[in-house]
Amino acid sequence: MRLRVATSRAWLEAVLSDFDTFMLDHALCERKASATAMSLVSHYPDRAELTREMVDLAVEELEHFRMVYRRIADRGLVLPADHKDDYVRRLRALVRRETDVFLLDRLLVSALIEARSCERFVVVSEALPAGDTKDFYVDLARAEARHHVLFTRLARTYHAPAIVEQRLDEMLDAEARIVESLPVHPFVH
Ligand SMILES: [Fe+2]
Ligand SMILES: [Fe+2]
Repeated sequence: MRLRVATSRAWLEAVLSDFDTFMLDHALCERKASATAMSLVSHYPDRAELTREMVDLAVEELEHFRMVYRRIADRGLVLPADHKDDYVRRLRALVRRETDVFLLDRLLVSALIEARSCERFVVVSEALPAGDTKDFYVDLARAEARHHVLFTRLARTYHAPAIVEQRLDEMLDAEARIVESLPVHPFVH
């Protein structure tokens, strides 16, 4: 998947100047990614492939959460309360409620979130000095790359490829508009 707008230099600078805030928000993102995977399991128990993949993903994202949480605790930080994530909220607002497209839109929103997270972890990892934190973000970027491929593959499993491509094209445009209108802050999105 090709995102249509690159993350700005200003975002990277905000993250590098407040890395604690970035990691705290990152922890919340991993926890929510795990919960979202489990919510797909509970909504579509009859879809065997989706269920199998989402159970594995929920475990993997929870493992990511554990790893980020340990790093936070090592820094003497405390997990914040959930705050609203405008990026995710605005992407979710694109999900159409009709039964035949609800799953498609949910899968594509998840694919976009994974793709943007991947792009940003790459940007962060490239800017960090050699060391453990850099390696950590290199590994996570690889995982998020696998995840956005997984979500688009699942979309094509349950929906006609032409319909998936057309909707993905619309959503990529929307995602670019959302990213460009977000305030610059040291959050993952
Ligand atoms: Fe993750
Ligand atoms: Fe992920």
